[in-house]
Amino acid sequence: MIIGFLKENDEFETRSMLLPEHVSQISKIGFKILVENKYAEKLNLKDDLYSDAGAEIKLSNDIASISDIIVKISGKDLGSYDFKSGAIIITGFFDKDNKELLKVKNDKKLEMFGLNYLPRITRAQAMDVLSSQSNLAGYKAVIDTAYEFSKALPMMMTAAGTITPAKYFIVGAGVAGLQAIATAKRLGAVVSATDVRAASKEQVESLGAKFVFVESDENLETQGGYAKEATEEYKKKQEDLMKKTVKNQDVVITTALIPGKKAPLIINEEMVLSMKPGSIICDLATSQGGNVAFSERDKIVEKNGVKIIGYSNYASRTAHSASGLLAKNIINFLSLLIDKESNSIKVDYGDEIIKGVRI
Ligand code: NAI
Repeated sequence: MIIGFLKENDEFETRSMLLPEHVSQISKIGFKILVENKYAEKLNLKDDLYSDAGAEIKLSNDIASISDIIVKISGKDLGSYDFKSGAIIITGFFDKDNKELLKVKNDKKLEMFGLNYLPRITRAQAMDVLSSQSNLAGYKAVIDTAYEFSKALPMMMTAAGTITPAKYFIVGAGVAGLQAIATAKRLGAVVSATDVRAASKEQVESLGAKFVFVESDENLETQGGYAKEATEEYKKKQEDLMKKTVKNQDVVITTALIPGKKAPLIINEEMVLSMKPGSIICDLATSQGGNVAFSERDKIVEKNGVKIIGYSNYASRTAHSASGLLAKNIINFLSLLIDKESNSIKVDYGDEIIKGVRI
């Protein structure tokens, strides 16, 4: 069984799906491992580290033409490779609108899995790329905002006087939001958070943050645990609540997403302009259209003295940690594709996880 790891070509993608320390774990499953030359140069990891660990370094086309399984973070540019017929392509983040790749899939009778479509069930947690990456995004958003903010975060009582703690407000208390709350708390900020899912109240409070919630009888949580799009009535109530809350914050971090839809605009222009100059906003949803007025994908913009950070690939800003977790996600997913007795690739298409990720 041959598994090939192809390099990422996007300028904002600094992660890799394999670190040298994970090569031996994949060998133990029974794979020969091929790694594209200069695979992790953005992580400053030289090819030697991968070959010393037991991988073979090759050019991309050589890898594509002989591998039984191909692994890559993004599927965006995979349409141009000449894959072995019948190969399995695993991408961390698959875009179902990628027509070119879907054509290659049909022409070459490829099997494709997008780990971003994993069902959010307990058994899938160790493979869950959305969670592993969102967690780091939430952490890094706090670090970035703390860096841009010109005041200290914790309360400090010194002989020269007292510094009051920074006020952080987190919008969306999913995986990224909860880690942002935990990180801001660890740095000493006073933290509050909101979400449309009532279930998140307990999680927010268990981290020591205040939960700010729209009073409503609407249940905005799907059976899968995701948020639904709010009604116009709910949006109006949320707008009123946000208006009152946002103007008193030093830092706002937004993480609100609705699967398959454009991200909801939660912080409008008036709210941004109501914040004190020097305040910071970080919009983690810019790749889905953004939660914040004025935010721009992959830029920091300034409005009325308020800085708005809009990096779209946040996990790439902690690329080494993110790559390590992606590698673990992929190793756990590979175990589903292997029949241990015959030491061969055998996919159970009836498995709930496989059904979820299969393109
Ligand atoms: P997400 O990335 O899709 O969205 C982030 C957060 O934004 C969510 O908490 C959502 O409720 C909130 N949101 C959406 N619209 C909003 C609005 N208008 N105002 C305020 N907040 C808004 O969410 P994520 O992090 O992927 O988590 C989704 C669900 O999946 C959660 O219930 C989480 O507990 C669950 N989950 C389950 C896992 C498992 O069991 N394997 C692993 C990870 C998450």
